[in-house]
Order: sequence, then structure tokens, then C-alpha cells
Amino acid sequence: MEDIQFMQLAIALAKKGKGHVNPNPLVGAVLVKDGTIIGKGYHEQYGQLHAERNALKDCKVSPEGAVLYVTLEPCNHHGKTPPCTEAIIENGIAKVVIGTLDPNPQMAGKSVKILQEHGIEVVVGMLEEECKDLIRVFRKYITTGRPYVLMKYAMTMDGKIATYTGASKWITGEKARACVQETRNEFSGIMVGVNTVLKDDPSLTCRMENGRNPIRIICDTHLRTPLHAQVVQTAKEVPTWIATAVTDTTKKAQYENLGCRILEVPQKDGHIDLQVLMRLLGEENVDGILLEGGGTLNWSALRAEIVDAVQTYIAPKIFGGTAQSPVEGAGVALPDEGIRLENTRCISCGEDYRIESDVVYTCLQES
Ligand SMILES: NC(=O)c1ccc[n+]([C@@H]2O[C@H](COP(=O)([O-])OP(=O)(O)OC[C@H]3O[C@@H](n4cnc5c(N)ncnc54)[C@H](OP(=O)(O)O)[C@@H]3O)[C@@H](O)[C@H]2O)c1
Repeated sequence: MEDIQFMQLAIALAKKGKGHVNPNPLVGAVLVKDGTIIGKGYHEQYGQLHAERNALKDCKVSPEGAVLYVTLEPCNHHGKTPPCTEAIIENGIAKVVIGTLDPNPQMAGKSVKILQEHGIEVVVGMLEEECKDLIRVFRKYITTGRPYVLMKYAMTMDGKIATYTGASKWITGEKARACVQETRNEFSGIMVGVNTVLKDDPSLTCRMENGRNPIRIICDTHLRTPLHAQVVQTAKEVPTWIATAVTDTTKKAQYENLGCRILEVPQKDGHIDLQVLMRLLGEENVDGILLEGGGTLNWSALRAEIVDAVQTYIAPKIFGGTAQSPVEGAGVALPDEGIRLENTRCISCGEDYRIESDVVYTCLQES
């Protein structure tokens, strides 16, 4: 196997931690001695051993003189576990190949220096883009204290998210829908506007085998969420947080008694202030949010500049008619004023396609 293949394996291992390590990063590690893999590991669970220590634990032979391939710069601080740099030095690792540096400004590059000072050869940047992609949620959270927001929707080739009767089950095929469940498993939170609850009564759970349910966050300025809604009725089993501007304790208690948590958020332009909400959610360790709309909330979220990336499932179908589009709101007057997206990735998902892009805000102007 080549250098790159060892790092590819470390990346694949890192992905096994999805849904279990938030708000920590996904990290994978492979130890190689004389061209043979002697240990593999990944960060499996928040608060537990880091990838490097799991790879060392996995070794059946001495790791002395081995090369460590690790997707993220090893940590150098005493957190829930001791520093990985110590383990690397104590075990006599000869060389460390790192995918990407730690984006935490207080950390970046410090471990590299420490390892080098102990005579360990260090290479940084192998498969860097792939390794950076692994930690996109962590990067946003650790540098801003706010959650990474992925706006996701499914639409037809003519841009409809339902038929003219409002029917929307299903737009995409089974494979795409299974991918959505995997994404729900990865994110700490899932967020919708109150109209989506009123119209669809969704459960917003993760229906993947051994999947983890994200915290359900409802943007509901005036507490219009019905008490009989699924998200309320199941709030004792799956967390439901309602972001509202209502301060009336009796009204709030009706939801709290059913297990919901109320987040009091000030209003901006007649709705809850999404920037403030992101700050509050960050303080609650919510590192990433899957925004599942609908169109009104999607537009507000883009306008408030809280969305980091947009994920669109496109089904090879055409509905026509007057149905809603995935982003509503005031819109922009001219094509040049559109919200710009970059770094577009496209994959096929069964009979559908998934397109994902990062959001660039510099050109946003309202009409
Ligand atoms: N195909 C898909 O992928 C998909 C995904 C989701 C939804 N949908 C569809 O979308 C439809 C609902 O969309 P919708 O546009 O009518 O409503 P929505 O976006 O689900 O909810 C909008 C409501 O959220 C509340 N809200 C609270 N804070 C807000 C803020 N800062 N900005 C904007 N709204 C805020 C507002 O009411 P208050 O201010 O009174 O609270 C607003 O009227 C449903 O029919 C559903 O089926 C489709």
C-alpha cells in the first residue's frame, strides 16, 4: 500500500465516528511499520479515547519506529483524555503524517512543533481537502462558537418541493431518503419552521439502524406548535426545543410539561432572531444543524447568514403548477444579486442526484 492509501483508510475509519463524537471532530488513525498496518483506530465516542490512542491500543507489536497517519493534528492538551502528543512520543513513533492542522486558533501547528522538538518527522497536508471536509462542522464550531448549518431540501427538476395539491411524499427515491437519514444521524440538531410542523406534523427523527436522533428545534415565534404535534407528544423520548419570543409562563408550561424545552429568543423583523438562536445553541453544545425548512425559514436563514452549505436532492421528475419552491421570501431582483454558492459537489444517489455547495455571502442584496 502507498502513503495515500493509508491516509484514505484513516479517513474511512474517522467516518465511523459519525453521530457519536459531537462536538468533537471525526478523526481516524493508522499505524504502519515496515509497510504493514500494525494498528487502526478512530475517535469512537465523545469523551473517550482519541483516534491515535485507539490505534496504539490496537497494536499487537511494538509501535516503536512506526509511521502514524492521522487525519487531524494530534491534540496537545489535557481535556477529557491526556494529550495524544505524549502517547506518540512515549511510544517512540518515528514519523507522523497529518491530514490537516487543528483549526482551533489556539492549537493550530503547536503539536507539530512539539513532535518535531522530540525528533519526530512530521508531514502535514496529505489528502488535506478530504481531511478538512471531515471536520467542517468542528471547524465552524471551534472557530465561532456557533453551529455549522446545512440547509437540505428535495425538489423536482422544475424546482418544486410538492405538487400543486401540497403532496410531497415522496419526491426522491429510497436511496436518497436513506442518505437523508444518515445525515440526520450526523447532526446534533435538526431545525424547521413552525409551518412545516403545522402542515406536515413530521417526527424529524433518524430512522437509520442504530441512528441517533438529533435535537429537534422548532422556530416558533408565537408558540403556534400544536400540543398534539408529534414533536411535542414524543418530546420525553426525543429532545424537542422550541425557540420562541413568548414569555408567558403559563403558555410555556404547557409545552414544558410534555417534555419540551423552551428557548426564549428575542424577535427580529417579526420572527425569532436566528443569529441569537445560533449563539444560544452553540452555548448548548449544538455544533451542527440540519435545516430542513420550509421555504420561509430557509430564506430567513440565508438572509441572516447562518447557513454554511446547501444540500439539494434533485429527482428526475417535473410537477409543474404553482407549488412552493425550496427558498421563498422576498428574493433578489437581479441574477447578479443572488446568493452565491461555491465548491459544488455532485453525486448520484440511486435515481436522484445530490448537489452540495458552500455559501458565500458577499453578494447578498435584497430587492
Ligand atoms: N421538500 C422539502 O425538502 C421540504 C422540507 C421542509 C418543508 N417543506 C414544506 O414546506 C412547507 C412549509 O414551508 P413554509 O415556508 O410555509 O413555512 P416554514 O418555513 O416551515 O415556517 C415558517 C414559519 O416559521 C416561523 N419562524 C420563526 N422564526 C422565523 C424566522 N426567523 N424566519 C422565518 N420564519 C420564522 C414563522 O412563523 P412565526 O413567526 O409565527 O413563528 C414562519 O411563518 C410545508 O408544506 C412543507 O411540506 C418541504
